[in-house]
Amino acid sequence: MLPANLPERVKLIYNYPCANSYLAMNNSQPAETPPVCDYTDSDYQATFWDTGERRYEDAAEEIALKRLLPASGSLLLELGAGAGRNTPRYQGYQRVVLLDYSRTQLLQARQRLGDSPRHLYVAADIYKLPFMDGLFDGATMIRTLHHMRRPDLALANVRRVMAQSGIFILEYANKRNFKSVLRYLVGRQTWNPFQPDPVEFVKLNFNFHPQTIRLQLRQAGFKLEKQLAVSHFRSAWLKRHLPHQLLVNLDKLLQPTGAFWQYSPSLFTRSSATGLSPAIPAGMFFQCPLCAAPLPETDQSQTCPGCGHEWTFADGIYDFRDNTNPESD
Ligand SMILES: C[S@@+](CC[C@H](N)C(=O)[O-])C[C@H]1O[C@@H](n2cnc3c(N)ncnc32)[C@H](O)[C@@H]1O
Repeated sequence: MLPANLPERVKLIYNYPCANSYLAMNNSQPAETPPVCDYTDSDYQATFWDTGERRYEDAAEEIALKRLLPASGSLLLELGAGAGRNTPRYQGYQRVVLLDYSRTQLLQARQRLGDSPRHLYVAADIYKLPFMDGLFDGATMIRTLHHMRRPDLALANVRRVMAQSGIFILEYANKRNFKSVLRYLVGRQTWNPFQPDPVEFVKLNFNFHPQTIRLQLRQAGFKLEKQLAVSHFRSAWLKRHLPHQLLVNLDKLLQPTGAFWQYSPSLFTRSSATGLSPAIPAGMFFQCPLCAAPLPETDQSQTCPGCGHEWTFADGIYDFRDNTNPESD
């Protein structure tokens, strides 16, 4: 969910045609990539998390992540990392790539986490990931699918950059949650929470049906291994009147019920990449999001040998956004 003050800051950015090799291969390339919900200059971390009002949700998510994350791994991609709220929870991985479309979110993350060879900051669009096929043995996407008009394309992009059997932890907002079901049954909500299509309740903010996401994960090349139902007690009244630790403990107890039914507002899934992933050519890491030419990891700006586009590296952030829309940062 977004903070109340964010929607007016949300900018729609329509990008160039997608040159992504995996999507081209699958013949599902759209004429234009979908719009991005841009958090540039947003104070999301400060107003949504740091006030303490969502301490319960944060604690519930920490428990879910602990349950789903592998004990160790080498390279994790954090998709829609924002200001890096969850990054310290990925201690088992040798390196973490924080990816976000918003450069200002990444600057906040860098300020919070500091500079270390363990963290790489990359400004890019999830629909046009600038990495070699099969690069990551782990990936997470928390509170970010929420902004995807085309979750199927987003998931296909994630699969492209995953190594064989790589682990992908996805959180998404569940349209078929207790509250929406109840509201629908008593006639206080027009949309049907049981229908499989997403509901866009604010521009570029979507809640999804669990069956739809399960299907799209499978179609993208992921095998669902675990589901957790999270944040059952997301209610301002409950959080005000019941002790924080009681709510957290009850949620912890209920999370595993996600394996059988999914009626909580947030769902966490753990999937593994199915099928083959190619070996990475020595020394290559990035991939030009415009022409798919391989690019090395180098902490300086570089010119793509394939299409001549210059990709910049400044303030510790790799910038692989190809958008020249003056509205973007
Ligand atoms: C609600 S915030 C979640 C941040 C973080 N995962 C957390 O849970 O605290 C969603 C983030 O997704 C990013 N985002 C949205 N659409 C994106 C896209 N197409 N590509 C990359 N990042 C995107 C936004 O910039 C924002 O930082």
